[in-house]
Amino acid sequence: MNFKATLACAAFVASVAPAAFAGEDAELVLNGEIPIVTTAPAPAHLDGVLGDEIKSGWLFRSDETQATQMDDFDNPGMIFVDQAQASWDTVEGSEGKSCASCHNDPAESMKGVRATYPKWNEEAGEVRTLAMQINDCRENQMGAEPWKYDKGDIVSMEALISVQSRGMPVNVAIDGPAQSTWEQGKEMYYTRYGQFELSCANCHEDNFGNMIRADHLSQGQINGFPVYRLKNTKLNGSHSRFKGCIRDTRAETFNPGSPEFVALELYVASRGNGLSVEAPSVRN
Ligand code: HEC
Ligand code: HEC
Repeated sequence: MNFKATLACAAFVASVAPAAFAGEDAELVLNGEIPIVTTAPAPAHLDGVLGDEIKSGWLFRSDETQATQMDDFDNPGMIFVDQAQASWDTVEGSEGKSCASCHNDPAESMKGVRATYPKWNEEAGEVRTLAMQINDCRENQMGAEPWKYDKGDIVSMEALISVQSRGMPVNVAIDGPAQSTWEQGKEMYYTRYGQFELSCANCHEDNFGNMIRADHLSQGQINGFPVYRLKNTKLNGSHSRFKGCIRDTRAETFNPGSPEFVALELYVASRGNGLSVEAPSVRN
């Protein structure tokens, strides 16, 4: 790390590590019946940069925030899942179809889907996020307008689809045709942005477990997305989170849905291969 970056980090990150994580030993079981893996062996492609284990952001939250995610009746994110179920059944567009017309009950047709996204789509010749796939169906299967990336409707739909994979391990493919996109994302992860010259890795790899201002820094995993944030009381997509993090370094940033953030999402998702899908999660 160069001198300037060290200085910037020191200004940001408290040099003294706090006591252990608030909930280091906490276990997450949703509704008393779905066990969630919040600590898993680090994927081989990380070459030990996070140590032996990867950890869900849930472990780094306060006891109260953790508790809010344990039961669907307490989790405010579930309201948006209910809304998405209604839109799943709603006919829209020139073809007179709803999602249900082709995919029936999401509990069956969408089981396991979230765990593999972003993923390569052979026909389109591109890596697709779940949001891109949903919009592809809206435009090309339904004849409907695409939803705005990372805004209410689409994020709620992503949450509905994600719920069908809760407890299943994230398992995105990083080889084959997805490899070059993955490498682009990896390069971004280690690029220093902004006036503070900080990369994602400077915070989420070098300093997870430390306090940054009043916040407990996690590994920046995305297995919990979409995330209900107490701060803005809505569901948030991962690209909005990336945007916020880059903006905090006082850098110009990319837009949600941009090719850059698609690549970054694939790479960040792969750092969490083995953690459970836990969306909609609750964070501050
Ligand atoms: C007219 C039929 C049709 C409608 C309506 C439709 N889809 Fe699809 N959907 C498909 C087909 C066909 C595929 C497979 C396409 C592919 O693999 O490239 C697909 C694939 C998907 C996938 C990816 C599944 C996987 O295993 O990767 C998701 C997610 C999805 N659709 C969501 C939706 C949502 C949400 C809606 C409503 C907004 C919707 N679809 C409406 C036909 C439809
Ligand atoms: C200056 C330090 C800093 C930098 C640089 C930074 N972040 Fe963050 N990030 C935070 C803080 C603080 C939080 C909120 C606490 C937490 O969850 O770690 C956060 C949260 C996140 C989360 C939410 C995790 C969850 O479980 O909800 C993700 C994902 C994330 N960051 C990804 C990134 C990515 C990708 C980059 C690089 C583009 C990045 N961050 C750069 C400080 C940073």
